[in-house]
Amino acid sequence: MSLLTVEQVTSGYGDMEVLHDVSIEVKPEEIVTIIGPNGAGKSTLMKTIFGLLKPKAGQIKFTDHEISGLSPDRIVRLGMAYVPQVENVFPSLTVRENLQMGAFIRSDDFSDRINEMFDLFPVLGRRGRQQVGKMSGGERQMVAMARALMLNPHLILLDEPSAALAPNLAEVIFERIAAVNDTGVAILIVEQNAKQSLSLSDRGYVLAGGRNRFTETGEKLLANEEIGQLYLGG
Ligand SMILES: Nc1ncnc2c1ncn2[C@@H]1O[C@H](COP(=O)(O)OP(=O)(O)O)[C@@H](O)[C@H]1O
Ligand SMILES: [Mg+2]
Repeated sequence: MSLLTVEQVTSGYGDMEVLHDVSIEVKPEEIVTIIGPNGAGKSTLMKTIFGLLKPKAGQIKFTDHEISGLSPDRIVRLGMAYVPQVENVFPSLTVRENLQMGAFIRSDDFSDRINEMFDLFPVLGRRGRQQVGKMSGGERQMVAMARALMLNPHLILLDEPSAALAPNLAEVIFERIAAVNDTGVAILIVEQNAKQSLSLSDRGYVLAGGRNRFTETGEKLLANEEIGQLYLGG
């Protein structure tokens, strides 16, 4: 059974094609990482899956639905969440207000969900009233993930969650990602520098020049010499 299936997708900006025949799959409750150099098309793939870009060819299936061509707004309602690489929080709002924004389509009482997020990210629980723009990069990343989780998604897309973080902070983020996954949420991560991410992953893909290059278990990708030299810093 598959949660997300991207099949031979071609996508890009205007006339410029960035992704060529890209295929990936995420099963329920899996962690899958896509690695690849800067400019490989990783963020473009995330934006295409989430409906921010319309694929020129190929199919994207999520749960039982064909979603290529649907708007992000529709895709969110099917149970997918997306944390972009940049501008993924509301800096002028507090932590709690950011989480409330994440629940924008919920009309029920979501205070329990906020408390669950504070359990999952204890650092945030102590800072509910802090303005997010004044927090560290690692804390902001946690706010972004917690916001995206407010709607109880089946799948969350994380675009370079550890980018620009010091190694010890990146480790904290990956621990939290594993904790999120333990609650039953499948996770698709893209990373430029991906040792930690691959070691958590059930499977990994290498994207280069907008095309699939390798598909393997996270472990096997980590052990692959060519990939090590090209993408994992030797
Ligand atoms: N908004 C955009 N408009 C036009 N070209 C873009 C845009 N965003 C990215 N690109 C181009 O698409 C290619 C892939 O970019 P991107 O998906 O951001 O790569 P990655 O996330 O793997 O670093 C690059 O050549 C980049 O210049
Ligand atoms: Mg990117």
